[in-house]
Amino acid sequence: MKRLIAEREKARLGGGEKRIEAQHKKGKLTARERLDLLLDEGSFEEYDMFVTHRTTDFDLDKELFLSDGVITGHGTIDGRTVYVYSQDFTVLGGSLSETNALKICKVMDQAMKVGAPLIGINDSGGARIQEGVRSLSGYASIFQRNIMASGVIPQISAIFGPCAGGAVYSPALTDFIVMADKTSYMFVTGPKVVKTVTGESITDEDLGGASVHATKSGVTHFVGASETEGILLIKKLLSYLPQNNLEEPPLVVCSDPADRLDENLNTIIPEKPSIPYDVKDIIHSIADNGEFLEVQRQYARNIVVGFVTFNGISTGIVANQPNYLAGCLDINASRKAARFVRFCDAFNIPIVTLVDVPGFLPGSAQEFEGIIVNGAKLIFAYGEATVPKITIILRKAYGGAYCVMSSKQLRGDVNYAWPTAEIAVMGPIGAIEVLYNRDLQKMENAAERAKFVAENAADYREKFSNPYEAAKYGYIDDIIEPRNTRFRIIRALQTLSTKKDVNPPKKHSTLPL
Ligand code: HXC
Repeated sequence: MKRLIAEREKARLGGGEKRIEAQHKKGKLTARERLDLLLDEGSFEEYDMFVTHRTTDFDLDKELFLSDGVITGHGTIDGRTVYVYSQDFTVLGGSLSETNALKICKVMDQAMKVGAPLIGINDSGGARIQEGVRSLSGYASIFQRNIMASGVIPQISAIFGPCAGGAVYSPALTDFIVMADKTSYMFVTGPKVVKTVTGESITDEDLGGASVHATKSGVTHFVGASETEGILLIKKLLSYLPQNNLEEPPLVVCSDPADRLDENLNTIIPEKPSIPYDVKDIIHSIADNGEFLEVQRQYARNIVVGFVTFNGISTGIVANQPNYLAGCLDINASRKAARFVRFCDAFNIPIVTLVDVPGFLPGSAQEFEGIIVNGAKLIFAYGEATVPKITIILRKAYGGAYCVMSSKQLRGDVNYAWPTAEIAVMGPIGAIEVLYNRDLQKMENAAERAKFVAENAADYREKFSNPYEAAKYGYIDDIIEPRNTRFRIIRALQTLSTKKDVNPPKKHSTLPL
């Protein structure tokens, strides 16, 4: 008994007090402190505390630490089981050894058997250099498990320190990444290698800090101002997710009336079609208690994605954002939304799509970078999704973008439009310029042309830029009063809760990657 207590004490100290102090000085918590914050009090069951590495090269046998640089096990968050691993930077820089990888693989395998989410907290110098290929094989074994678990259990990665080299790929294979601002970074090759190969001088933060991955690369889905905030974000995120792909997300008790009207919505769309507004105001208005957990908030801001509940039903929101790039679909927005739609579909989370999109972003930059193949990803994601899909066209639904945004023909279940909806092949001005190109060329002055375009555009708007034409063909199920939107969505979600739809049997699709 005495020995057990002593050994446990030793294991809990990781790399020792000095290194713990150094960790704190960097503004970072230890692996165990992070788990304490993440898990319900007293719920943590630790595995493999007494594991040590088996390496003798480079005198490593003189550096034996119980747990070998990673804390693993399971616990609960809000009473629901999760499996966890938390890399301990105080032990050989949290580097991944053969035994360390075996510990991680063990919890991954258990998480799959039990059907519970996996949360990995990363803080590591990467492959344990002294172990060579055995360490690399450890990474590959983790990758394989990430892939098998994808779409079966939710996988969430926290990055709370360095994450470099191939080590970034396990988090990249998971569903969500959370980074801590200023104390974490991710890159495939660090600043030193970048300098040697390309001559470019760049800091860790500028190359792979949280801000870079939140705004430029889109690699991270959430950024916490601190590790504590990052952990709170993980807990909040989990509250919207089921335990696995065979279960439904938890149904939350809702105090916000399902039939709550919001008169403001009747006037939220500006009179002039060119004036923007913030679609998040609409999301906050219709969601339970105005709560919205936005995913990739700073990336591809022309589309907004995230989680809400409607009368307690966990739901994914996809919304064009007129406030940014007029809500046009571009490459990054298409990929961002496609990934989110596929996640929701994999985990039985219904999708509500709010549409106000003038079309795909035009220009050579987008064409050269592949807007064709990337836009196709979003079409694919919506068309493949079998969860309940509710679409509300708020204003513009032009051209291909109409088709993409969960249209009836992409198996939209319930498609509503506000009276302000404009559904047409293209905007009025563009349409008149194409239709009357020859007449316009014959006109002598610009004023005459402008007058002609304006007059005919008004006729075109009258005929096509409204929801009635689409409703006439049944492409829109109903035109609804904006103030009723919350209630109509909730009733649709309740009705669709028993929806069954399947895709044809296949090994897997050939999604245009
Ligand atoms: C063994 C390592 C280590 C590693 C750090 N340490 N990284 N030990 N293998 N990969 C040890 C250090 O020797 C040190 O031990 C302790 O951890 C803390 O490291 P410091 O350098 O003192 O800390 P810091 O200044 O904060 O710098 C952190 C760091 C740096 C930026 C991560 O340690 C570093 O650059 N490490 C190497 C990173 C790297 O190149 N890894 C391989 C990537 S390639 P003591 O005893 O002094 O406390 C890779 C391939 C994966 O991972 C392939 C997957 C497909």
